[in-house]
Amino acid sequence: MLPVTPRFRVFATCNIGHDALQLLRDRGYEVEVHDELEAPPKSLIIDKVRSGIDGLITTLRDPIDVEVFEAGRGTLKVVAQDAVGFDNINRADANRYKVPFTNTADVLNEATAEFAFLILGAVARKLGPAENLVRDNRWGTWHPFLPFLGDEITGKTISVIGTGRIGQALIKKGVGFDAHYLCYDAAPPPMDFFNKIQETMDLRFHQGFTRERHTIRFVSFEEAMAGGDFVTLHVPLLRPGEGAVPTWHLINENTLRLMKPTAYLINTSRGPVVDEAAVATAIKAGVIAGAALDVFEKEPLAADSPLRDPAIADRVRLYPHFASAGRTTRLSTDPDKGMAGRCVRGLIDVLEGNYGGNPARMPYVVNKEAFR
Ligand code: GLV
Repeated sequence: MLPVTPRFRVFATCNIGHDALQLLRDRGYEVEVHDELEAPPKSLIIDKVRSGIDGLITTLRDPIDVEVFEAGRGTLKVVAQDAVGFDNINRADANRYKVPFTNTADVLNEATAEFAFLILGAVARKLGPAENLVRDNRWGTWHPFLPFLGDEITGKTISVIGTGRIGQALIKKGVGFDAHYLCYDAAPPPMDFFNKIQETMDLRFHQGFTRERHTIRFVSFEEAMAGGDFVTLHVPLLRPGEGAVPTWHLINENTLRLMKPTAYLINTSRGPVVDEAAVATAIKAGVIAGAALDVFEKEPLAADSPLRDPAIADRVRLYPHFASAGRTTRLSTDPDKGMAGRCVRGLIDVLEGNYGGNPARMPYVVNKEAFR
C-alpha cells in the first residue's frame, strides 16, 4: 500500500517553475498558482492566506508583513521565498507570529557572481556602445582608439563590498582575470577563504600565468571605495534600524566621491543600497566612470529615471534584475542546484515536520531565532 502523504494547501504568488510545483502536487498537495506576469495585489495574498492555506510561496515582489501573518493566524505554517534576498518579508512580524520563512541561499551564488563579472566587463569594455556601432551601421573603419576605447580588467583592482556567499563566489571566479582584490564587509573577514585565494594567486604567478603577483586584502569601507577600479556590491539590503550596519543608500553622493573618477560601480545586490539619482549625477559630472546595474530602488525602472539619461547611456548598463536568471539556477528541481527546487524543499521541510519538526534545525529556514 502506498503511504498516505499529508495533504496541504499552498498558494504560490508566481509560477516558480512547473516541475518544482509538480513535486508538491505529486506529494498530494493542493497548489494554486497566481500564474500571471505581474505579482498579485497584496489584498489577493491576504485573501488567500485568510482562506486557510498552509504554505505561501513568494517572490521578492510580494510585501509580507503583519497584515499577511495576521490573516494566517493559526493556519499559515510557512512562507517559502523563491529568492535569496528577503527584504520584502518583515522578519520581526514573522517571528512575532512564529511563522518560519525560507529562502534559496547558495544555489544562486555562482550565477549571480558570474553575471556581476559579465556586466562589469560589459560596462568597462563598452559592449553596449560597441554593439550599437555595428547595429546602427556607424562602424566606419578599424582605428587604434576611435571612436572610443574600453578599460581592461586584467591588472586592475576590484573592490568587493560584502564578502558573503556571492562576494566570495565573484572573487573565486575572478582570480583568472589577474586583478587585485580589496574587500570590505561589516562582518569579520573570511580569512581562510582569503588565504586560499592568495595561494591561488601566488600559484598563477609562480606558474608564469601572470607577470605580476596579485593580492587580496581586507580593508576599510573607505579604502575599498577609494582603491578600486571597480566597486562591486554584494550586501543584503538593511534599512535603517534593521541591522547594526544599515546598507540603505550605502552608495550616495558622499561615498561616490571616494571613488576614482576612472572607476565603475557594479550592483547586483539590491537597488536601494544605491542612491540612483546620485549615481546618475556622479557619472554625468565625471565623478565616476560608469555603472552596471541589475537592481533598482523601484522595479521596474521608472520611465523618467535619471539613469536613462541619453547623455550617460554609453557609460551605464542597465539590466532587469537578471543576475540569477540562468535556466538551471532558476528552475532546477534539485535543491542543490535550483531556486525552485530549494524553495519547495524548504516548504516541504516545514509542512511535513522534517528535522524533528524544529524549524531552527531546518537548513533553509531563515528566522531560526524564533524557534530556539
Ligand atoms: C534575487 O535577487 C534574489 O534575492 O534571489
